Amino acid sequence: MTGISIAIDGPAGTGKSTVSKEVARRLKLAYFDTGATYRVATLWCMREGVDLAQESDVAALVETMNVSLVLDPRNPRVLLEDEDVSSLIRSDSVALTVSKVATNLEARAALGQWQRDVIAAELEGGYSDGRGVVSEGRDITTVIAPDADVRILMTADEEIRVARRAGEGADLATVREAVLGRDKKDSTVVQFHTAADGVHTLDTSELTIEEAVQAVLDLVAEVR
Ligand code: C5P
Repeated sequence: MTGISIAIDGPAGTGKSTVSKEVARRLKLAYFDTGATYRVATLWCMREGVDLAQESDVAALVETMNVSLVLDPRNPRVLLEDEDVSSLIRSDSVALTVSKVATNLEARAALGQWQRDVIAAELEGGYSDGRGVVSEGRDITTVIAPDADVRILMTADEEIRVARRAGEGADLATVREAVLGRDKKDSTVVQFHTAADGVHTLDTSELTIEEAVQAVLDLVAEVR
């Protein structure tokens, strides 16, 4: 028997990472943040000084990257050449640049293959011992794991997403520009605003984290 595959997509600020991690923790599954693969690839390209406009050079460089992922939902980590870059990949400079790598179709193909391999490994063994994996991103329900057991698109009103990302004291206009600007660039290659056939939509605008976690657990219970 293989493990369960849960795929969760959606734009920034829907609560998708928080909910995915919590669902993985409660079900003792691996947690796979596919956004981290794009972020670490971006950090690697920035460090190596490749011209991000040269798409084939970027894709070739991405293939040489030496990364390992720790899929622990309590403490997910990304190691680049054995250096823990889990915080660095969340920096503004990476966030502002990541769409350049994510919209490079050659680099996307390489990262997508890696993601499929990670998911396949978790369904048979890996960190979760074969219990399975919660994978989150933008195209997991449609391109990377269209055959996942549970597929969910998380959405939320734009202003709510911006406010969640901003937190206290932040300049809303700057955060709005950053969050919605990134969505807009990413949307040129992946569609993550409306659910594909067979994908459940979960609008978290009016939900607490706990309610959103419960809603996902309810959908998992239906297939288990
Ligand atoms: O989810 P997160 O904000 O960390 O994702 C970072 C970036 O990685 C996104 O803005 C997008 O450019 C890219 N991404 C993607 N496809 C995915 C996951 C992330 O293009 N499945």
